[in-house]
Amino acid sequence: MLNETGVLIPGLANATEPVAQGFLRVEGLSKSFVPGKPVFADVSFTIDKGEFVCIIGHSGCGKTTILNVLAGLDSASSGHVFMDGREVRGPSLERGVVFQSHALMPWLTVRRNIAFAVESRWPDWPKAQVKAQVEKFVAMVGLAQAIDKKPSQLSGGMKQRVGIARAFAIQPKMLLLDEPFGALDALTRGTIQDELLGIVRQTHQTVFMITHDVDEAILLADRILLMSNAGDDAGGFSAGGIAEVVRNTVPGNRTRATLHHLPGYYELRNHIVDFLVTRARARVDAASGPDRHQPKKEPT
Ligand SMILES: Nc1ncnc2c1ncn2[C@@H]1O[C@H](COP(=O)(O)OP(=O)(O)OP(=O)(O)O)[C@@H](O)[C@H]1O
Ligand SMILES: [Mg+2]
Repeated sequence: MLNETGVLIPGLANATEPVAQGFLRVEGLSKSFVPGKPVFADVSFTIDKGEFVCIIGHSGCGKTTILNVLAGLDSASSGHVFMDGREVRGPSLERGVVFQSHALMPWLTVRRNIAFAVESRWPDWPKAQVKAQVEKFVAMVGLAQAIDKKPSQLSGGMKQRVGIARAFAIQPKMLLLDEPFGALDALTRGTIQDELLGIVRQTHQTVFMITHDVDEAILLADRILLMSNAGDDAGGFSAGGIAEVVRNTVPGNRTRATLHHLPGYYELRNHIVDFLVTRARARVDAASGPDRHQPKKEPT
């Protein structure tokens, strides 16, 4: 099991971290849909209050499954999740989730979709306060013009932005984001990444985010979890899991425009891409021989 001490990465600044108690604690999670062949096993990590953690791994390694367990929407086959000292046993408005595919109520307008969440979170709020909260976060994702439209009248990217506004509007203790910008065009994606960065820096929001975009992870995350896939290789079946925890050493005042010029950016990017290309998959590609994609065991 890899613990929070992380690993030392050649060419990068010291990635070793002290053991932290963590606002969110994930202990020994595993999940099997097929008996004896867990998708992932022994997944343990912590997230401190105000920390932004991204997880990167190939399709099917179990990222969404982990996020659903953190959200309380799915249960693990073994292991535990604690948030703020209490075990996560079901969904809660203390955690805001943006799903991989938007999950809006199709019969409600954008305004009502978000107001529903805000009213559930703060049942005592007067109508005017709910209205102001909804409008603030709809404006944040650039949808003020579409606030009284229904999801069927919106593009995929617009629906995704409504999901993002809804998660932010309930000001949760923890935000869980499953590829929240995946359906957005590059321009909108960049704008919302900047918005997210601004809000997170201002509010010290704690975030767990899944992304496939290495630059997005380097821009946003304090730490990046690198996840490997389950699969059969020459040594038999191996479960997926967190292979490495990488601390982002690129200076904290980074922006999209400056990222590529900052010290440590290329080393970190190359390290993550190298992981994804050569080490993340356990499966043997039959055409390439048994040595390809052999997983390297990292020190724990
Ligand atoms: N309800 C289910 N029943 C059976 N298998 C499932 C179920 N949910 C997920 N899986 C399997 O578990 C594995 C992990 O799925 P998951 O959706 O967590 O992957 P992911 O890392 O989020 O992938 P992607 O990047 O494509 O979103 C996949 O092989 C998937 O087929
Ligand atoms: Mg997924």
